[in-house]
Amino acid sequence: SNNIKTVDERLYSVCELLEKEIEYYNWVGFYFSDAKKEVLHLGPYVGEATDHTVIPFGKGICGQVAVSNSNFVVPDVKAQDNYIACSITVKAEIVVPIFKNGKNIGQIDIDSNTPDPFTKEDEPFLEFVCKKVASILP
Ligand code: SME
Repeated sequence: SNNIKTVDERLYSVCELLEKEIEYYNWVGFYFSDAKKEVLHLGPYVGEATDHTVIPFGKGICGQVAVSNSNFVVPDVKAQDNYIACSITVKAEIVVPIFKNGKNIGQIDIDSNTPDPFTKEDEPFLEFVCKKVASILP
C-alpha cells in the first residue's frame, strides 16, 4: 500500500467533498461514456446505491446530456418525461458534461432531495469542478 491515489479514488473524494459541503447535494456521482458513445457507465459516486449503472445515450437526464453536450438543470424531476428515477426521495437534479480535449467524455450527476434547490452559482461551479476533473483523467 502507498499514498498514491488512483483516478477513481480522487473522483470518489470529489463526490464526498461535494456531498458533505453542499447541503442540497445528496447524491453525487460520475458517469463516463463508452468508446462507441452508446452508453454511460457509472463511475465513483456517493449516496444511495443505484440500479442505473449503465444508461443508454438519449435516456434519462444523463443520457440526454451525453447527446446534447450541454448542462441540464432540473428543478423538479416530476416535470420531466425523459427521466430515470433512482430514488423516490429525489426532487431535483443537475448534470454537467465533462469535456476532455473538446470531447464530451462523461458527466457529473447530482441529485437533490430539496425541491428547486439550484442557484445561478451551481452551473459555473460544477463546470469548474468538471474542468479540474478532466485534467486528472487519462
Ligand atoms: N436520474 C438520472 C439517472 C441517474 S440517477 O440520478 C443516479 C437520469 O434521469 O438520467
